[in-house]
Amino acid sequence: MNQSGQYKLAPLFSLTGIAAMEFCENTLFSQSKIIGLADLRDANTVAVLSERAGTIFSDAVKKIKDVLADDMVGIAAVDIPLLYPNDKTVDAIAGALLAVSIAQHVMPSLLDRENGTPFSIFNASQKNSRTLDSVGIKGVSPTDILDFHSDGSIHDGLLSIPKYLFLYNILINYHNKGNFYWVPTQTITGIKEYIDSFGERDDYIFDLTPTVYESQPSQIKAILAHRARTSIFRRVGENSIATFMNGTFRGKHDDIDGAAIEILAQFRTDISQNDCRYYVPQQARRMIFLRNDCGFHARDVLDNPIEGLATTRSYLRSASVEGHPVGYIEAG
Ligand SMILES: [Fe+2]
Repeated sequence: MNQSGQYKLAPLFSLTGIAAMEFCENTLFSQSKIIGLADLRDANTVAVLSERAGTIFSDAVKKIKDVLADDMVGIAAVDIPLLYPNDKTVDAIAGALLAVSIAQHVMPSLLDRENGTPFSIFNASQKNSRTLDSVGIKGVSPTDILDFHSDGSIHDGLLSIPKYLFLYNILINYHNKGNFYWVPTQTITGIKEYIDSFGERDDYIFDLTPTVYESQPSQIKAILAHRARTSIFRRVGENSIATFMNGTFRGKHDDIDGAAIEILAQFRTDISQNDCRYYVPQQARRMIFLRNDCGFHARDVLDNPIEGLATTRSYLRSASVEGHPVGYIEAG
C-alpha cells in the first residue's frame, strides 16, 4: 500500500526549536524537575499548558486549524524538534507534553476512562502483539492490517463520532514504519449513491474494534468489546454528512439477506482504491491531526521490528469532545 507517489502528502511542518525550547523551559518544569504525563489528570494543569501552547505556537495552531476546517484536506502533521539531546527520557517526556499541550488547544479532548487524562497511551511490545493474536483480537496490535475506518467514542451507552483525532508517536521501534492515510468522504466514487443506499438511520450493527488497556508492557488489562447500533451516514449541517464505520459490520439490524453487508464491503473497497488519498509517513515525534467525521483513516502495517527492544511502539491518542451522536451501544 506504500505507493507514496500516487498519493498526496498531507500538510506537514515542524515547530521551531526556539519556540519549543521556550515552551518547555517556562512551562514543563517544577522545581527543576520535568512534570509527568500523569500530571495531565489535573484539568487546571491542562488548561495552563494549552493556553501557553496557544500563545507560543499561535502560527502552528492556526495552520492546523485551517487544514482541519477544510473537509477536503482534513489531515495535518507537525514534527516536534529534538529538545534535550543529553537526556533521552526528559526529551521524550517533554516532546509528549508539548504535543498534548498543542493538541488540547486545537481540540479539547475526552478523558481516558482509566487514567483521567485527555489522551490515552498505548504501549505495544512483541510479546503483547503475540498475545492479542493468540486470543483472536485483530486490528489493535501494530502488525495488523487496518482497514479504512472512523473512530467512535462511547459515553453513557451513546456512540458518537469525534470530530477530530490526534495521534502522537512517542517511539516506533520498527525499521519499516509505513504511512498513515486519510481519504476525504466527499471524494469517494459513488458517495451519493452510498448515502442514498444506507440512508441516515441508526439501523446498522457494528462490532466495534476493541479498546485495549495495559497496566504493564505485555500485560493486557482489559479488552472492551462493544456492539453498536448506528447510522453510517448522518446529516450534521446543510451541506455536511458525518460518516461512521468501525470494526466488523453485521448488516442492518433486521437484515436477513445480507444485502447491506455486500454494499458496505464494496464501499470499503472503493475507499481503499480511491484516487484521492492523503498520506503522512509514520515517525516518532510526529503529531497527526485529522478530521474523523468527514473522512476515513488507515495505516500501513509496521514491519521489521528493531531487535532487542522491549517496547515496539508507544503512542498517544486523543478524541475531541466535539462530535456528532450517531447511535448507541446495544446491551449485553
Ligand atoms: Fe482509528
